[in-house]
Amino acid sequence: MTNIGILGAGRVGTNLAGKLSAAGHHVTIGGRSPEDTAARTVGLDPRIAFADQRSTARTTDIVINATPGDSSLERLTDLRTELSGKILIDVSNATHDAADGLPGDLCYPGSSLAEKLQAALPDTHVVKTLNTMLFMVMTAPETLTTPPTAYLSGDDEHAKRTVTGLLGDLGWQPERIEDLGDITTARATEAMILAVPHILRRHGFKPIAVSLAR
Ligand SMILES: NC(=O)c1ccc[n+]([C@@H]2O[C@H](COP(=O)([O-])OP(=O)(O)OC[C@H]3O[C@@H](n4cnc5c(N)ncnc54)[C@H](OP(=O)(O)O)[C@@H]3O)[C@@H](O)[C@H]2O)c1
Repeated sequence: MTNIGILGAGRVGTNLAGKLSAAGHHVTIGGRSPEDTAARTVGLDPRIAFADQRSTARTTDIVINATPGDSSLERLTDLRTELSGKILIDVSNATHDAADGLPGDLCYPGSSLAEKLQAALPDTHVVKTLNTMLFMVMTAPETLTTPPTAYLSGDDEHAKRTVTGLLGDLGWQPERIEDLGDITTARATEAMILAVPHILRRHGFKPIAVSLAR
């Protein structure tokens, strides 16, 4: 059982919270207004706790960033003390919206949010994963006809092993987890998001992942 904090209570954050709590972890969702977040997410596993984002980062052992990626760098840098010594799992996509609200351009071309976070948080182990799929696939990879891939990027091997264990709790088989290497490899998976809006426009909001075929 791990004490997991999830920053952001959107579709990604609540979906991950439900599955990780069901797997036996102690989950706290960090929202901007914990009471509003709790009221908005009635029906979630009642064991899930709610707190503000700073308390969530301070009181948990592994923190997942499920907040908007275009403003994550400033938000998480401000939590540097609270995140010190911990694993930060970044599942966000840092993009500027296109006119229809879907992801458009990358915020950090030639780099990545994950690299920026690692540089800003040297005492934190940043691991990038799960940003290359729609939220429902993150916790139910077995539901896709073509087996999806969960990529991993991060500098710390122990942190990546820990995250691999959590991915297992979310339903990911080891052979579908692809460790790409250090944190600079996140610029590849963050760029994969650029394919997604075109697919959604053509096929609608149906479960998809950008995966590796062999
Ligand atoms: N949706 C997907 O299928 C998908 C797939 C892959 C990756 N992602 C990435 O995962 C992240 C979360 O996506 P999402 O679709 O769940 O929803 P989202 O609309 O990006 O926001 C998630 C939550 O973050 C919090 N938040 C919003 N603005 C904030 C701010 N300025 N400061 C602090 N917290 C703020 C809100 O929670 P509170 O109101 O409780 O504070 C909100 O519900 C994004 O970076 C997205 O790019 C999404």
